[in-house]
Amino acid sequence: MDSITLDYSKSSVEEYELENIKPYVKTSHEILHKGIGPGKEYTGWVNLHNSIDEDEIERIREASKNIRDTSDVFISIGIGGSYLGARACIEALNHNFYNELPREKRKGPKIFFIGNNLSSSYIMDLFDLLDDKDISVNVISKSGTTTEPAIAFRIFKDYMEKRYGIEKARKRIYVTTDREKGALRSLADKEGYTTFIIPDDIGGRYSVLTPVGLLPIAVSGVDIESLIKGALDGVREYSLDFDENICYKYAAIRNILYNKGKDIEILAYYEPNMHFFAEWWKQLFGESEGKDKKGIFPSSVSFTTDLHSLGQLIQDGKRNIFETTINILNPRRDEVIKQDEENLDGLNYLSGKTIDYVNKKAFEGTLLAHYKGGVPNLVINVPYVNEYYIGKLIYFFEKACAISGYLLGVNPFNQPGVEEYKKNMFRLLGKPGYM
Ligand code: PA5
Repeated sequence: MDSITLDYSKSSVEEYELENIKPYVKTSHEILHKGIGPGKEYTGWVNLHNSIDEDEIERIREASKNIRDTSDVFISIGIGGSYLGARACIEALNHNFYNELPREKRKGPKIFFIGNNLSSSYIMDLFDLLDDKDISVNVISKSGTTTEPAIAFRIFKDYMEKRYGIEKARKRIYVTTDREKGALRSLADKEGYTTFIIPDDIGGRYSVLTPVGLLPIAVSGVDIESLIKGALDGVREYSLDFDENICYKYAAIRNILYNKGKDIEILAYYEPNMHFFAEWWKQLFGESEGKDKKGIFPSSVSFTTDLHSLGQLIQDGKRNIFETTINILNPRRDEVIKQDEENLDGLNYLSGKTIDYVNKKAFEGTLLAHYKGGVPNLVINVPYVNEYYIGKLIYFFEKACAISGYLLGVNPFNQPGVEEYKKNMFRLLGKPGYM
């Protein structure tokens, strides 16, 4: 089988620099695998085998089939790690216009995500799409107390109960939360909803391969076994020694570049359905590394679209950035550009070539231009966007993020900073205990 590869020939990092950082990567590997580093209580995802519960996977499969069979619309409620991984996989692994396809061309119901903002218009606009549709809801929150999904769920619970009656609504509501803690757990137990458990030792942004991500992903018809298989192969490959481990090299190169003043990383992709994968990646690295006044700012661009907006800044702006491109080697579909007798658009020089061929040349041209412009470039070559490789890529980035965080000297598994805005918001809202 083809592999995911890392090309760092244009990273501006020399082999001796990699040699120098190697012992630190080895130490990071050891403390991560022995579970003795900062945040060790949230490293359950590292040995993915232990966190994959076959019975739970079977229940997810059954629940997703039930949802597919009985629903026109599936509403996934969650934010941050309880949202982005699922959406990343659903969008990457399905048709670009999934929700717009007729039902017979979709494997699952239409899927909408709410509870990831506090926009009243966003929530209310969704109701305009629901009139005569059958609906299932999955509310996802590890703490079970996060404000955004809690408000969205309160509104949707009420809607579902009015639409279906309390008993029937209960059969259409699925809850993914902690085994015993949190308001959502108590609510789910009281109502008798079907529940799925988020393991204690896996934090939100590392939880896509738990029921948090797997249930919504399975609802869209994605083969979650292949997704897991890819990740499990990643567990083996990305634990190898440094010289054979592209995941550790990626983490090391990021750290070397950061220490040379490159404190913004741009994740570039040329397939628009990788948009939410990049959003997931930004949360993973941003929340994991951005602390103690340190961290690389993770940013993303959709090329070639953003070559017509941010391209100028990347080429010519302040030289504090480096770029990592996810290069999908084989597109899901392609089309040959035909010869046109009149050639009014002047495109006949491309006739016989495919659209993806042009996309690849845009990538090669951009890579060279940005590199020459002083932007170190890394390329992660991914053979196909399918379940197997997306699963592997997820594990690649999770592992790289943990190693990179340890290299930086931070705890990559906590997020103390996100509490600050909440304290102010709760005080302003008059929440008991915050006045
Ligand atoms: O990575 C994290 O831990 C966070 O981004 C959480 O996923 C996010 O805040 C949502 O939390 P919860 O699942 O408790 O609602």
